[in-house]
Amino acid sequence: MTNFIDLVTSRRSIRKYEDRPVEKEKVQQILKAALMAPSSKRCTPWQFVVIDDKEKLQKLSVCREMGCKFMEGAPLAIVVLAEEEKSDVWVEDATIAAIMIQLQVEDLGLGSCWMQVRNRKKDENLTTEDYIKEIINAPAGLKVECVIGIGYKAEEKKPFDETRLQLDKIHYNNF
Ligand SMILES: Cc1cc2nc3c(=O)[nH]c(=O)nc-3n(C[C@H](O)[C@H](O)[C@H](O)COP(=O)(O)O)c2cc1C
Repeated sequence: MTNFIDLVTSRRSIRKYEDRPVEKEKVQQILKAALMAPSSKRCTPWQFVVIDDKEKLQKLSVCREMGCKFMEGAPLAIVVLAEEEKSDVWVEDATIAAIMIQLQVEDLGLGSCWMQVRNRKKDENLTTEDYIKEIINAPAGLKVECVIGIGYKAEEKKPFDETRLQLDKIHYNNF
């Protein structure tokens, strides 16, 4: 197991992937990590949709004008949704599950990138959320937070440079 701070330091957004599938066992482990995410009152409002269908991945890659093209080359994506009725803090719950996915992905030696869905539009008449819900046949009542693109890294990114830590954002007892 990677040392946690090394894991956090090396995780970067990876948008280029090798053209090979992610093994089933690895996908299972990623999902396990998601299902162990903390949630408010342990009400676990999330749902996860695993996508490895090329046609669907291609459709995801045009769900917004920008910021989603990388999905076309991803062999795998996980749509992170939540039942709005179950929790008034579903955004937090879904977000925490998504970062658990990203960290587990990194620990497995794979790369990932977050694709924002909530509050985004495909075009003037359609939200990104409604477009994606249609692709995956999501029932009403479910909200889409994001989609995490996952795959073997086909680009290298330097680990976080600690000299760039924004220490001025830290305050002790008072601002
Ligand atoms: C809430 C959130 C939304 C993001 N949305 C997108 C997105 O839609 N498309 C994308 O390519 N990257 C997206 N990212 C990735 C960020 O651009 C990336 O994390 C940031 O530039 C820092 O780079 P790093 O992850 O390599 O450290 C998102 C990240 C977060 C946390």
